[in-house]
Amino acid sequence: MTDPLWQKADTRIDAKIMRFLAGDDVILDREFFLYDVAASRAHVEGLANIGVVSTDAAAALKRELDTLAQDFRNGAFVLDARYEDGHSAIEMRLSERLGDAGRRVHAGRSRNDQVLVATRLWLKDKLAALGTHCRTIAQVCLDCAARESLPLPGYTHLQRAVVSSTAMWFAGFAESFIDDTRRAHDTLAWIDANPLGSAAGYGVNLKLDREHTTRTLGFARMQINPGAAQLSRGKFEIAALEAFGSALLDLRRLAWDLSLFTTAEFDFVRLPPEYTTGSSIMPNKRNPDAIELLRASYATVAAARTEIEQLLSLPSGYQRDLQFSKGSIFRGVRHGLMALELAPNLLARLEWNAAAMRAAITPEMYATDAAIEQAAAGVPFRDAYRTAAETTASAGQGRTPEDSLAARVSPGAHADLRLDELRARLTALSG
Ligand code: ARG
Repeated sequence: MTDPLWQKADTRIDAKIMRFLAGDDVILDREFFLYDVAASRAHVEGLANIGVVSTDAAAALKRELDTLAQDFRNGAFVLDARYEDGHSAIEMRLSERLGDAGRRVHAGRSRNDQVLVATRLWLKDKLAALGTHCRTIAQVCLDCAARESLPLPGYTHLQRAVVSSTAMWFAGFAESFIDDTRRAHDTLAWIDANPLGSAAGYGVNLKLDREHTTRTLGFARMQINPGAAQLSRGKFEIAALEAFGSALLDLRRLAWDLSLFTTAEFDFVRLPPEYTTGSSIMPNKRNPDAIELLRASYATVAAARTEIEQLLSLPSGYQRDLQFSKGSIFRGVRHGLMALELAPNLLARLEWNAAAMRAAITPEMYATDAAIEQAAAGVPFRDAYRTAAETTASAGQGRTPEDSLAARVSPGAHADLRLDELRARLTALSG
C-alpha cells in the first residue's frame, strides 16, 4: 500500500492492522468513486471562489479530475489495495500529476465529509432508479389490470373467502408500487442535502463556498450544522434501505402469491419459462426458483438496514465504525435493484388458467354477497349474516363469478377499479 495521507514522523504501520482498518473499503469505494471525484471538482471550484487555490491551479485540478474520471471508467485507472481508500487515491493521483496544486486539494475538507457527500450522491441516483423500477412495475400492473379480468378466488387466512379477479389482484399491486414510487421520491428529497464543507464535523476556519458546492452538485439544500452532517451518517442510509424495503416487501408478497398459484394444487398461473429451473435429480420438475429468490430478496435489504442500525450505537462525531455502513448499503441496494428489475417482464407474461380459477370459486364464496344484498334491502346486517351463514351451501344458486364481480361497486373494487385515477397518480409522480 502507498503511504497513507496521514503519514507523519511518528507513524507506525503494521500490515495486518492496516488490512483490518481498510478491509474491503477501497474495493467498495469503487462504487462511490465517480461521485467522490465530482464532489472533489465542486470543492476545488469552491476553494477557487474564496481564493484558497488560484484560478490556474483550479483549472489544472479540474482537468486532472476529469481525466481521472475518464481513466476510471475505461479501466486505465484501477482503484485497488495500493490505496487506503478512494479519497486517498484521488489526492495521490492529483499530487503525482500536478505536484503542489494537487497537494492543495484537501484544504478545508476531510475524508469524513468526502464519504458523506459521495454516499449521498450515489444514493440519490439509486433512489431515482428505485423510483423508476417501482413506476415500471406499477405501470405493468395497471396495464394487466385493464387487460386481465378473469375471476380469481379471493382468500383470507389462505381460506376461500369471496370472488375476486385478476384485475383486482393486479390493481392492488399497482397501487402498492405507486406508493413505493412515492416513497422512493420522498426519501430522495429527504436525503437531498449537501454535507460537503462540514469537514471533520466541526467546520473550518475558511469561508467555504458551500452554496456553490450545493448548487453545482445538484443538491436541493445544504446540511447546515457540521455536527448534524456527521450525525446523519447511517441514518440516511437506513432511510434509503427502508424505501427499498417497502418495494421489496410488496415484491415478496407478490412472489408468495405466484409460488402458491403455480403449484399443481392451485394451478392458477403459468410462469414465463425462463423464471423457472429444472431439478438436478427429478426430471419431472419445473421449479419457480426465480420467484423464490425474489421473495427472499427482502431479507438482504432488511439485513443491510439492521447492520447499519447496529453500527449506530455511537457518540456524536465521526467514528470509524461508520465505515462498515458502506458494505451494507451497497449490498442492500444492489440486490434490491436486481430483484425489482426482474418483476415487470414476469408480470406482463403470466398465463392465467381461467378454468382452474373458476373451478376454485365454490358456492359458499357468495355468502357475503347474499348477506350484503339483504342488508341493502333493509334487513339488519347481523340478521342477514346469520341467514346467509345457515344457507352457505346454496349461496351460489343462480350466481356466477361475473355477477358477483359486476356488483362489486364499492370504490376501488372490481366494478369500480379507478385505474384512471391510479394512472393519474402515477403520472403526477413523474420527475
Ligand atoms: N473509509 C472511511 C469511512 O468510510 C473514510 C473516512 C475516514 N475518516 C477518518 N477520520 N479515518 O468512514
